[in-house]
Parts: sequence; C-alpha cells; structure tokens
Amino acid sequence: MQLLTIECFEGPREAIAWCRELAAQGLSLGFVPTMGALHEGHQNLVRQAALENDRVCVSIFVNPLQFGESLDLESYPRDFTGDAKLLNEAGCHMAFTGTLPEFFPGRLDERGGLLPEYLLDPGPCAEGLEGEYRVGHFEGVATIVGRFFEILKPKRAYFGQKDYQQALVVRDLARNMDGPEVVICTTHREPSGMAFSSRNTRLSESEYAAGMFISRALFGARALWNQGQRDPAVLARHMQAVLKQGDLFVEYAAVRDPEEWNGSEPVGELQHAVALIAARAGDVRLIDNMLLSSTTPAGA
Ligand code: PAF
Repeated sequence: MQLLTIECFEGPREAIAWCRELAAQGLSLGFVPTMGALHEGHQNLVRQAALENDRVCVSIFVNPLQFGESLDLESYPRDFTGDAKLLNEAGCHMAFTGTLPEFFPGRLDERGGLLPEYLLDPGPCAEGLEGEYRVGHFEGVATIVGRFFEILKPKRAYFGQKDYQQALVVRDLARNMDGPEVVICTTHREPSGMAFSSRNTRLSESEYAAGMFISRALFGARALWNQGQRDPAVLARHMQAVLKQGDLFVEYAAVRDPEEWNGSEPVGELQHAVALIAARAGDVRLIDNMLLSSTTPAGA
C-alpha cells in the first residue's frame, strides 16, 4: 500500500499559504481544478502536471455557481477521502477544498449567492452548444477558475479536452488575466470507448450501453473526416443517425471550427473541425467530443 503523503487542507487559507511558500522557494506549481469524484482522467491530468512542474495542487470543490439545476448539484458524487488516495497515487502534493464564503469573502449577498458584479464574463467561446443548453454555466466556471488562478498563482493549469468548450473558455480567461499557461490534455477513455466522467458512476447498465453510442458517433464522424468528408452538416447528420440507435435524449450533435468558435453552425467545407455531442442517458447528462482535424486540442 502506498503511503499517503499528500497534504490536504479544508479551506483556502492554508492552501494559499502553501502556494506562497512554494513561490518563495522558486518552485513551479501545476494546478488541476476539479469537482472531486475523481477518476483515471483526473489522475492523468495530475500525472502530466507532475511531469511539468515542481509541485502539483488540486482543488476539490463542487462549484454551485456553475450548476443550473439544483438536483444535479445535490446528486453530484462526493468522496474526499477516496479522492485524496487517487491524487496521492498520481503524484499530487496538495489538495484543498473550501466553501463559497471562504473563496469569495465579502462578495456574497444575504442569501449566500455571489453578488452579480463578481461574476466573470466567459467570453465568446461560451457561445452556443454548452452555453446555450446550460445558461450561466460558463460564467460560473470562469468565476471560480479565475478566482483560483488569482489566489494560487500557478505557473500552469491543466484541463481535460473532454470539456472542450470549457477548455476554450479558460484558455481565453487565463490569457486575459495574465494567468497561468493552460494545458489541455487529451480525453482518457474507458476500454468501451466511453470518455471517463464522474457522472458515469450514476449510469445504470442500460444507460451505460446507451451512452456508448456517443463515442461511437464521434469515432464515426472521424472516420468520415479521414475519408475526406469536410461538410459539417453531413458529419453532424451521420452522428445523429448513430445516436438514434441508443436510448438517448440528444441535446446536440454538432461540428465546429475550433479556430473560429462562434455560436452558430459553420457553413461550407472546413479545414479544422471538432465534433461535439451532449446527450442524456436517463437522468445523466453526458458530453464528449473529438478533434477531426489534427489541430492541437483547443488550438492551445
Ligand atoms: O471541469 C470541472 O470539473 C469544473 O468545471 C471546474 C473546472 C473544476 C470548475 O469548477
């Protein structure tokens, strides 16, 4: 059994002091923000961060600012002790959690919500797809991630490509606030092809089987792209046809130009493309994506 050497802090005060101490010693910090319920995919982010930095720190915070549906927030899986073990195995040096009042002292209203003037604008990459189906989600993500960048001052921050649009939003956020270098890491998949996600644990057997059509549709789109298909509408129709075979409620199956992200469907032949899907298997909302062209993730 591996010895638990990771430092765990219950609030941001100790975490900030720990990061300051690192900076004073001239050591570089890699930061991986998470909402806990960690899996192989998060461990990979930590492993990459550990290769590229002197120390790695992980936040574990189920951020209420980014959840529209309170049911989704309440049912989000939480297991701090299990998470700490996985982080330790992956080479993380410090993990911390905290509460909204601790992260935003003096910035909350009397009901405990963040005062609107402290919500960050997530920028143009928040338009369309996730931004349309989860209104306010990216404001919440940008606000908490921006706050973490501000208080921890990491050299690099690591995000999974699975949340593709989120990766674009935080990349822009970091650039605008002169924050850390944002590193986008490729999606880690289960042997079935399904992307690792904290939500997978909530799927029944039949919902999991339905969810597998998501990666099938994406791999199908990539095969078509490799055969020379460049029309986003044709690629999207192909994904929709595959998704119909599963018991899923499809929110979108779309193709976008990662170099020129905007809210609307691109027209004409694409040179760069990413295929993106959001669908519900029962109550569980799943998202996944695949780069079709060989651009680096999120053009990072
Ligand atoms: O991807 C996530 O888990 C969350 O959106 C993040 C980046 C930790 C912000 O709460």
